[in-house]
Amino acid sequence: MKRNEAKQKAAELLAKMTLEEKVAQMVQVPYKMVGREESIRWAEMGAGSFLHVLGDDAREIQRVARKTRLGIPVLFGIDAIHGHGLNDHATIFPSQLAAACSWDPEQLETIGTITAREVATDGLHWTFSPVLCLGRDTRWGRVDETFGEDPFLAGILGAAIIRGYQGEDLSDHEHILACAKHYLGYGEAVGARDACDTECTMRKIREVFLPPFARAVEAGCATIMTAYGSIDGTPLTIHRPLLHDVLRDELGFDGFVVTDWDNARSLVTRQQVMENLEEAAVAAAAAGNDMIMTTLEFYDAMLKAVARDPRQLRAVDDAVLHILTIKYEMGLFEQPEKKGRPGCIGCREHTDAALEAARRTVTLLKNEDMLPLSRAIRTVAVIGPNADDIQAQYGDWTYFSHPMPDKDHPPVRPFVTFREGMEQLGDRHGVRILYARGCGHLPSPEDNLEEAFQLGAQADAIFFACGDMIDQIGESKDRADLSLSGRQDELFARLAALGKPICTVLISSKPLCIPLEADRSGAVICAFNGGMFGGQAIAEAVFGEFNPSGHLPISFPRHSGQVPVYYNFLPGWHNGKYCDLPAAPLYAFGEGLSYTTFRLENLRADPETLQVHFRLSNTGSRAGTALVQIYQQDLVSSVLTPVKRLIAFTHGFLEPGQTEEMSIFLAREDFALINAAGKSVVEPGQFRILAGFSSKDEDLTETMIRLS
Ligand code: NOJ
Repeated sequence: MKRNEAKQKAAELLAKMTLEEKVAQMVQVPYKMVGREESIRWAEMGAGSFLHVLGDDAREIQRVARKTRLGIPVLFGIDAIHGHGLNDHATIFPSQLAAACSWDPEQLETIGTITAREVATDGLHWTFSPVLCLGRDTRWGRVDETFGEDPFLAGILGAAIIRGYQGEDLSDHEHILACAKHYLGYGEAVGARDACDTECTMRKIREVFLPPFARAVEAGCATIMTAYGSIDGTPLTIHRPLLHDVLRDELGFDGFVVTDWDNARSLVTRQQVMENLEEAAVAAAAAGNDMIMTTLEFYDAMLKAVARDPRQLRAVDDAVLHILTIKYEMGLFEQPEKKGRPGCIGCREHTDAALEAARRTVTLLKNEDMLPLSRAIRTVAVIGPNADDIQAQYGDWTYFSHPMPDKDHPPVRPFVTFREGMEQLGDRHGVRILYARGCGHLPSPEDNLEEAFQLGAQADAIFFACGDMIDQIGESKDRADLSLSGRQDELFARLAALGKPICTVLISSKPLCIPLEADRSGAVICAFNGGMFGGQAIAEAVFGEFNPSGHLPISFPRHSGQVPVYYNFLPGWHNGKYCDLPAAPLYAFGEGLSYTTFRLENLRADPETLQVHFRLSNTGSRAGTALVQIYQQDLVSSVLTPVKRLIAFTHGFLEPGQTEEMSIFLAREDFALINAAGKSVVEPGQFRILAGFSSKDEDLTETMIRLS
């Protein structure tokens, strides 16, 4: 059903509803927290939505809901964040950050399509994904959930995964609702302290944090989740200018808004801006929240508030209209349960796609002729805490972690860790693989650096698999220190002292500080959380079975004190560096090597057509995919503008020796800035256009363009 017709139907139904039925529609019940009996009671009361309930339990709730007076179907939401990972048998994709290394919207769309199909097959309707916060202060515990640091890239990839989740038609049985979150500025909380205040002006909000959400709305994202935190002292839960004026009036968002977990109560208990829940309920609804996640007392509080002041009904009516419209548009009244595709959860087609997605995440950051492994290497030692740790490889949001951490959950096959991948490929290539964990993520009596050292001594080459573990990732897991924890650096130093070729493999939720490893390794691979076949993909890259093409969507600091170190900073820093650290990050946004080399030349930009032309050549000896990034710099502007700003990118696959003439269309708004009055304008004048293979000056070629 089209949105307008759905709206009409929703309005007709709304007219028949009692106040109690309306307020109940706004309530989202946490199934796992309250349990089955309490959930059934809420279904009988007409609760609009439940979260974290799977399969048959969801079906039971739906049956109860359908028997209520108006039989309004329930909407089931789930955190299918990188695949439908709370279901034991689902396909687990790379984390958002890892998948962003592909810089490939089609890849993200495929992940979305498959995840949606699996969620729908579980009878559920809605994923709380994607995260469109930016990972700029990498001490934040949730950087793994972002598409990295750049608003443009995050917007493009976010829109793509939304298209994958939602498809063309919300009533399609294999598609589900997406939820762009967390609106807004959540990743920028001061000190990277999860859910703290974001000290930010509205101008900055519009310039940096709003654009990915604007793209999500443009892509038709049906729902938006409000952030936990506050901006300049105003909780997002009651930020009507952002939730209503900007989101609905300016961006034209026409779906519904859900709060984050218990946001309504937080207004009283944590943020202390309301005296009681009744005030909080009124304020949350009035600001533009349509559905209230998990604050069940909202129901009584809102009923009381309307009884006291009937004008509050208006916000309730608006909210219920928004929710019912989406339920109609999804066709839930005719067919409340999505059918999905029976048998597809974790099927071969899907897991093959997970392997392909993992290959696309592999990002080569250094290679002094160590990779792919030469035939002279006969024995390899795989060492380190993340070589054989599926929990660390998955990262957050699978059955091991959220929403009810279960670290003792038995790991469910299929998956391949890095060690296993190396063993499988070693067999095939006649290379002996030795393994030792060496140490954990935290110092422990089981650490055995000596054993690892002895093992390394027997090998021709060493692979050091380091990173973080799930206790160091996610909500409320912000880190003050981003260096490798436990005895990992010490282990590396001992192994490096053997003087053998050594490759560092970073399997982590985010950039960690690895200056020692970067300096002393012959090769560095970043894989982040690669999902079920993350380990296999790295091993395949090591053995040269494919040519890696990942590029960083985020910069790597040399030291925690260098954070934030994003590429698109504003100019003006006297001396441009700390006196005790080099200016540049350890690895910059956009970096990523290949087993071949590329050249970009003959860059031209046409101010009339806004087209950028260039010649791309493969100058190495292997076929490979280049990622060409286009940045602009506004040479003179009324407010400070970034030293570089990503405005376009494209991939080119080239055979060795092949040359292609390529072009990219830019848009006029790629040159816009947000002026001091908060308006988006293109100021006439000169712009530098930079094109190349990373955000680093030395990887870029430049030309000028004048816009009038
Ligand atoms: C809290 C998280 O902030 C949000 O991202 C998630 O979707 C909800 N909880 C539901 O689990």
